[in-house]
Amino acid sequence: MATAGKPRPIDERRAQFQRYKEDVKKRGKPFYPFAMFHDTVMSLVVVSVIVGLATIWKWTSFGPHHDGLHQGLLGPEYTAPADPGTTSFVPRPDWYFYFLFYLLRIFKWPDTVFLGTVGIPNVLLVLLLVLPFIDVRRERRLSRRPVAVVAAVLTVLSMAVLTWKGATAKEALASEVINSVPSWIKAEKLPAAAVPGAKLFAVSGCTACHTYMGTGSSALGAPDLTNIGTRHLGITFQINHLKCPSCVNPGSPMPKFASLGDARLRQLAIFLEDSKGPR
Ligand code: HEC
Repeated sequence: MATAGKPRPIDERRAQFQRYKEDVKKRGKPFYPFAMFHDTVMSLVVVSVIVGLATIWKWTSFGPHHDGLHQGLLGPEYTAPADPGTTSFVPRPDWYFYFLFYLLRIFKWPDTVFLGTVGIPNVLLVLLLVLPFIDVRRERRLSRRPVAVVAAVLTVLSMAVLTWKGATAKEALASEVINSVPSWIKAEKLPAAAVPGAKLFAVSGCTACHTYMGTGSSALGAPDLTNIGTRHLGITFQINHLKCPSCVNPGSPMPKFASLGDARLRQLAIFLEDSKGPR
């Protein structure tokens, strides 16, 4: 029911869709089944290549090498087992996640981190999902689609910048804490035996909740540990508490550090017991 003057957008769209269907009938192949068949064949090829590579990797691996690893044509079958107690490993994502990784660094815990983890990525994802329903024009020429072009360029640019920043980002936090270890040793007159524990304390994430001589931040009601040694809790107590805080102090929200291993826990305990405040 066209009235005089400008046609309604919905009528225009229906007419366009009608023309598209006629076009397909005359000169094209419909998506189903032709394009879908192509996609299926291509997917099968890709999966077969992956299965083939996995088979070659598995079946060409010959006996344990000098370092105990099975070597194969496509690399070692298994590498050394992971050490859950490592303190020197700096966790970093694969390169294609650098932009998300850097987004997380822009937003600070705890006030705005929700924006960086859930907010922005989900808003963008929803936008992507509803795009076909918003952008219904048939116009394809880039010069006639300024909004879409600008949005696309901005998206690519910001992802590139975030990826670049993520790739070159320095792990500042742990190194800042480790830099203050010499000043702890001096001020608290820590004996040589306590130094490995002090370094371990600096890199094990303890300062995420505890403060020590003004370094770190307090969270979850964790006490300042500058002079924890004056309470004479004892090496055994310290080790047991680190292994399972809530077993020793019921209701403690401090995480278990048993994965550090007995030797490292002893070093930490020695450091804690020798921490008697600035002297
Ligand atoms: C997620 C926060 C958090 C982290 C990380 C953390 N702690 Fe704690 N810690 C606490 C809380 C909360 C308490 C108080 C409850 C308790 O005593 O268990 C506490 C208590 C302690 C105490 C005192 C125990 C007592 O009985 O008074 C020591 C010592 C201690 N932590 C050492 C450490 C060391 C060493 C590390 C790193 C290996 C560490 N903490 C990591 C939260 C944390």
